[in-house]
Amino acid sequence: GLKIVTIGGGSSYTPELIEGYITRKDQLPIKEIWLVDIEAGREKLEVVGEMAKRQIRAAGLDWDVHLTLDRFEALKEADFVTTQFRVGLLDARVKDERIPLSHGVLGQETNGAGGILKAFRTIPIIGEIIADMKIQCPDAWLINFTNPAGMVTEAAVKHFGWKKTIGLCNVPIGHRKAVSEKLDIPEDELFYKFAGINHFHWHRVWDKTGAERTYDAIDAIYGLAQDEDSNHLKNIHSATFHYEQIKDLGLLPCGYHRYYYIEDEMLQHSIEEFERGETRAQVVKETEKRLFELYKDPELDYKPEELTQRGGTHYSDAACEVIASIVNDKKTDMVVSIENNGTIDGLPYDCVVEVSASITAHGAEPHNWGEMPSAARGLLQGMKAMEETVIRAATTGSYGAALQAFTINPLVPGGTLAKTILDELLYAHKKHLPQF
Ligand code: NAD
Ligand code: G6P
Ligand code: MN
Repeated sequence: GLKIVTIGGGSSYTPELIEGYITRKDQLPIKEIWLVDIEAGREKLEVVGEMAKRQIRAAGLDWDVHLTLDRFEALKEADFVTTQFRVGLLDARVKDERIPLSHGVLGQETNGAGGILKAFRTIPIIGEIIADMKIQCPDAWLINFTNPAGMVTEAAVKHFGWKKTIGLCNVPIGHRKAVSEKLDIPEDELFYKFAGINHFHWHRVWDKTGAERTYDAIDAIYGLAQDEDSNHLKNIHSATFHYEQIKDLGLLPCGYHRYYYIEDEMLQHSIEEFERGETRAQVVKETEKRLFELYKDPELDYKPEELTQRGGTHYSDAACEVIASIVNDKKTDMVVSIENNGTIDGLPYDCVVEVSASITAHGAEPHNWGEMPSAARGLLQGMKAMEETVIRAATTGSYGAALQAFTINPLVPGGTLAKTILDELLYAHKKHLPQF
């Protein structure tokens, strides 16, 4: 039977993960599920762990659920290790978002200054996890959703040498659904191709006659009033894309492209949230509190509706599907973060990209993309170089590299302001940044 270990098991998303396993019980011969957390998350782990046990019991399954703070022991002979931890918990995210915004700069916990700091805190820990895995479970697959998922996955593959790593995100899942709904064609009758990097990718779509439908999808989604469902991400403000620009691009953008294509409006909106004390981290803290109240109910044995209020809803489904596809060699078409190896022209072979792939027993086989149009190519190369710089800073503790990353991130204005914000963030997160 399978042994699956989840690092950051106390996350409020865990009931979704468990639901995903239960849905696929016929494909997943699970024996043990280990949920690992740390002292600071002990209470969360206990509450969510009991909830997981109730879900499994209610489904009539006999899987063993272990709750532990001992990561090393938990990893012993694991088949799959999934990661969903947040170093410093949501209080650290509040700082990631609010410190830059206090200077009028986007914090954004994955793409902005906040994301860089989250990478600095997270990458050393993924290194420690991999060091344990090398001893305890050298053949295991590492399925990473810890953000910034693209950079954390690249660090795992390239820097810490864990080739069997697959990075995941829920954003492409929402885009697939949105295109299918807007074109009124079932998802399984469409062929999608995604390429780019995490939270910075584009997609194209074809129908079963072989006709490309990308422009039809652009018209359908961005041509008329851009209603709420053209933005399926609860965590991103629904600023309106400029139709003419998207049409010129000829690719469908991802929701996070709003931060680049409509940066002024996104920043304005974020500053208003900041002033009201309602940055996303602050809102999510309240959602989390309500969720844990629900999870404490000894009668509750299914995932509550409230969890869909989190931006990451459906991401566990991706994790469960990747695992089921590897175990059963399903060759499922999914979007994953993996080594480029020439899939996207103009990016290093050994960097991690987020692309469509078939998930087989030996891992992800990417679907070739080729060239990016010039409107996307330069931005993508710049963003990847920024990510590489972040990883270099995170792994070496070089202050110069950290300042470089801030300076070249398009969402952080360079110069003295970048340095001021970096210094404040490094100070605020001192206890989680031993490398600096
Ligand atoms: P959270 O704040 O609830 O943290 C999850 C758990 O991680 C907590 O219980 C915490 O105690 C634990 N933790 C912290 N440091 C740890 C360590 N060193 N070892 C083990 N556990 C540790 O976070 P959340 O809001 O549930 O999100 C979890 C993570 O998943 C975040 O990194 C988030 O960005 C990411 N996420 C990614 C996607 C995606 O699309 N890839 C979607 C949703 C969430
Ligand atoms: C999206 C992203 C995730 C991110 C989440 C934030 O779904 O894909 O990577 O973690 O939103 O959601 P939250 O509810 O924490 O703001
Ligand atoms: Mn994501």
